[in-house]
Amino acid sequence: MRIVILPTEVEASNFAAEFITEFINNNKNPVVGLATGGSVVMTYEALISKHQLGQVSFQETTTFNLDEYLGLAPNHAQSYRSYMNRTLFDHIDIDPCNTYVPECFDDNFDSACSSYENEINKRGGIGLQLLGVGSNGHIGFNEPTSSFQSRTRVKTLTKSTLTQNARFFEASENQPSLAITMGIGTIMEAENILLIGLGKHKSKAVADVIEGPLSAFCPGSILQNHPNATIVIDKLAASDLELYDYYIQTEKMKSKYNC
Ligand code: GLP
Repeated sequence: MRIVILPTEVEASNFAAEFITEFINNNKNPVVGLATGGSVVMTYEALISKHQLGQVSFQETTTFNLDEYLGLAPNHAQSYRSYMNRTLFDHIDIDPCNTYVPECFDDNFDSACSSYENEINKRGGIGLQLLGVGSNGHIGFNEPTSSFQSRTRVKTLTKSTLTQNARFFEASENQPSLAITMGIGTIMEAENILLIGLGKHKSKAVADVIEGPLSAFCPGSILQNHPNATIVIDKLAASDLELYDYYIQTEKMKSKYNC
């Protein structure tokens, strides 16, 4: 795991945007896995700026989102499809036909989930997967005790996730308690993973992901087993790390010796 600790949330987000830009610019027909939520908003803003400055084009890029609420129409303001259009896709030159979100509009969940996996495979697999992390250690909507082998499927959301995400919904709006999410096994097949964690409220989850035991109770801890995982965090999100100084030193050595 590469652990990058930067002083502020803005610097961590700029790092993430640069990481994604480099991936897109260095790959033909790049396939990028995307996340939603508060942690990635500044990363998307920075990507939009880079696009406006002519530093990155998304014309050849295909994206696969991690997850989506069940029961929200795509045009519902809180659907992850709407979030992605509003936060990123409407502002860049991506072909909307190349943007995938794991939606299901009937009760045929199994077929929606397996066709999502098939579509990822048809595109040659995910080259870079962007992740946030829930306060309970979830990645995508893979809640604690999700199998490390799991594939795209329907998950029941925990009370803590529902509470955490309630801020996005009006009091009168129905907040779904089910979601369709890429599985942990699906996520782990991505060639590269970039997880971003911002703020003091993520410090415990970040420490569990990086330094905790490998445990289904902290789904993100499986990233310790990924050969190309990078975690970018701001100082506050890093504040519970036992080896904080070591990670800072490692990055210094990396830039000094390019290793
Ligand atoms: C949400 C999403 C995840 C996201 C995570 C963190 O519920 N399903 O994809 O990465 O939880 O959310 P936030 O960045 O808003 O803290």
